[in-house]
Amino acid sequence: MRIAVRYYSKLGHTKTIAEAIAEGAGVAALSVETEPRLSEYTDLLFLGGAPYANTMDNRLREYVDNLDTSMVGKVILFTTSNWSRRTIYAIRKALKAKNIPFDMDYFYAQMLNIKGRKGAAKDFAMEKVRQP
Ligand SMILES: Cc1cc2nc3c(=O)[nH]c(=O)nc-3n(C[C@H](O)[C@H](O)[C@H](O)COP(=O)(O)O)c2cc1C
Repeated sequence: MRIAVRYYSKLGHTKTIAEAIAEGAGVAALSVETEPRLSEYTDLLFLGGAPYANTMDNRLREYVDNLDTSMVGKVILFTTSNWSRRTIYAIRKALKAKNIPFDMDYFYAQMLNIKGRKGAAKDFAMEKVRQP
């Protein structure tokens, strides 16, 4: 099973969680800025971002908009924020429109407790890889 972890992170919180997820999944976490496309078919794509003034960054939006439906089996989302989950809802909506399957389960970390959520993020990914 091919697994990938992609994220967009301005301040580093989502990157930290992406790296913990990647550790649990046994792969590398790559930013959508450096890896704007999946180069090979991916069974499980962990994808994360955060809201900035209620909106996801354009780079993440573009990544989702450019996702090739034939290149991904299922997406599992994660987000960090002060309180909002809207990045999850917005990405789900875009994935639905593209007919890309996604897990209803997602991982959340509040921005003031990023380090404290690293273990849970790793466990979340390990569990998802075991039972995708
Ligand atoms: C300019 C700015 C706007 C933000 N707007 C929101 C917001 O609307 N809702 C929210 O819950 N968090 C908001 N936050 C908090 C970020 O989503 C949070 O710090 C997140 O962890 C940032 O992820 P990153 O470190 O990966 O960039 C905002 C942060 C910044 C800097």
